[in-house]
Amino acid sequence: MKASVPSNCACIAIVVATVVMIGSLWVLGKRSPWSPNFDAPPLTAAVVGTDDGSVVEGARLFHDKGCLNCHLISDQGGRRGPDLSKVADRITRAEMIIRISNGGHNMPAFAGSLRPSELAELVSFLSTRSGNPEHAATEGAAR
Ligand code: HEC
Repeated sequence: MKASVPSNCACIAIVVATVVMIGSLWVLGKRSPWSPNFDAPPLTAAVVGTDDGSVVEGARLFHDKGCLNCHLISDQGGRRGPDLSKVADRITRAEMIIRISNGGHNMPAFAGSLRPSELAELVSFLSTRSGNPEHAATEGAAR
């Protein structure tokens, strides 16, 4: 004799499958490269790693101006743009200024919304983002 499957069992299976599908897509969406993170909390003092005034101010601006929504710093932030945890090893201060002012593919231009002093502070902060601690120390000090 064949066991007949109760009809509400199929129904439960469909509900479970739907929840799993939506849940896994949601998790993927949260982690995916195109996903900005609008809830990124400000960077912690441990991540900033210095009490140098302009670097700390730059780190604060990096959050307040929304940079952190799109960029990761030491695994904090969003993944819409490149991870900037070691950006100072990759590009120069001048290249940072050009990128931040003019924006890029999927990055807005900030020339109109940052004061020159704020741009300088952001670059001071980004210049400390290096895989090489000695580089970070000297760049942070030399303003
Ligand atoms: C809407 C998302 C978004 C926001 C907001 C944003 N960026 Fe970007 N950023 C990007 C993307 C995408 C790129 C890559 C652009 C390209 O390659 O053309 C990028 C590139 C960069 C780069 C160059 C990185 C490299 O390795 O070449 C720097 C530096 C940078 N952003 C800094 C900032 C700063 C500072 C802010 C805030 C003032 C900011 N970004 C805000 C998305 C964003």
